[in-house]
Amino acid sequence: MGVALSRDPLSEARFFAVELEPTAGEVVLLDQRRLPSEVIYRRFHSPYEVATAITDMVVRGAPAIGIAAAYGLSLVGRIERGSPDAFRAAFSAAAERMRRARPTAVNLGWAVARMRTAADRAAPMDAEQRVMVLETEAESIHRQDVRACRAMGQLALDYVPDEAVILTHCNAGALATGGYGTALGVVRAAHEAGKRVRVLADETRPYLQGARLTAWELQQDGIGVEVITDSMAAFYFQRGEISFCVVGSDRIAANGDVANKIGTYNVAVLAREHGVPFTVAAPWSTVDLACASGDDIPIEQRSRDEVARVGDTVLVADGIGCRHPAFDVTPARLVHAVFTERGVFHPEQGERPDELS
Ligand code: MRU
Repeated sequence: MGVALSRDPLSEARFFAVELEPTAGEVVLLDQRRLPSEVIYRRFHSPYEVATAITDMVVRGAPAIGIAAAYGLSLVGRIERGSPDAFRAAFSAAAERMRRARPTAVNLGWAVARMRTAADRAAPMDAEQRVMVLETEAESIHRQDVRACRAMGQLALDYVPDEAVILTHCNAGALATGGYGTALGVVRAAHEAGKRVRVLADETRPYLQGARLTAWELQQDGIGVEVITDSMAAFYFQRGEISFCVVGSDRIAANGDVANKIGTYNVAVLAREHGVPFTVAAPWSTVDLACASGDDIPIEQRSRDEVARVGDTVLVADGIGCRHPAFDVTPARLVHAVFTERGVFHPEQGERPDELS
């Protein structure tokens, strides 16, 4: 199923969303548009190719696109081997393109900013040293993410009941991160700790990350999972079958408002109505203290076709408009707990992320 890398992948899963092949100077991405039918790894040779792959959803999920951006930008060191000024100009142009690849996930801008700092440090060095500095920084972003996911999973253990039926939305798993996952990291940690947890995965219209990705990756790990359409969640809440909710996030504002895949807010409202804890797992790189509240979070608008078609099948006749905000914002008052590698805060009790910083 895999792709041969010249070193062990950093992902701890049996598959990886993003890796650097250092010998060949390639970024390798698992093409998530083709899952679960096909496991295809694609190779990219320039930061511009990687940026397009991010926009086109070859790789997706906030931490994973940050890591892909970092590895993509590390390629500048191999491509532009000229003077410090030439290198700075090439890096700056690539970083700007990368930053614009997708707007909502702040992890992307965070990773680009870290790579900019590394590039400033590397510019006066010779070409080989620049490559080393950039690749080391990208790999450190990747390792940091895997460690963060594991830490969140441990912190969440106190919150996940034994025998929980856990509802999750979208895919916040190994596929969406450097490996292990944020929301699915919470599930994995509970499973590894011996709690007999099962997952209900919202299919997550329109891009179907829940049906195509979450279910697939949990199946790889032997964790019980069933897929429901988004519209079925209320039914299972009403029957008392859901005991815990955990999702990932693309950006968390300073007041604890949480942006995540469109439809997450529906889950949070249902959870509150039925007295079920709605929780979020996200690395600190997802927290954006520069956004005072969710109103400041840019919401990505994606194409009509992702709503109007499934594959080649037309669902909405030509000429009829469709709207497609890719994310929504769940207000802090509906969020029971946010798990980060720095600790846990409780937005519904008025706790804010800066209390952990
Ligand atoms: O559009 P996507 O698939 O990139 O959206 C992903 C999500 O909304 C995830 O829940 C979020 O990025 C957290 S990933 C750990």
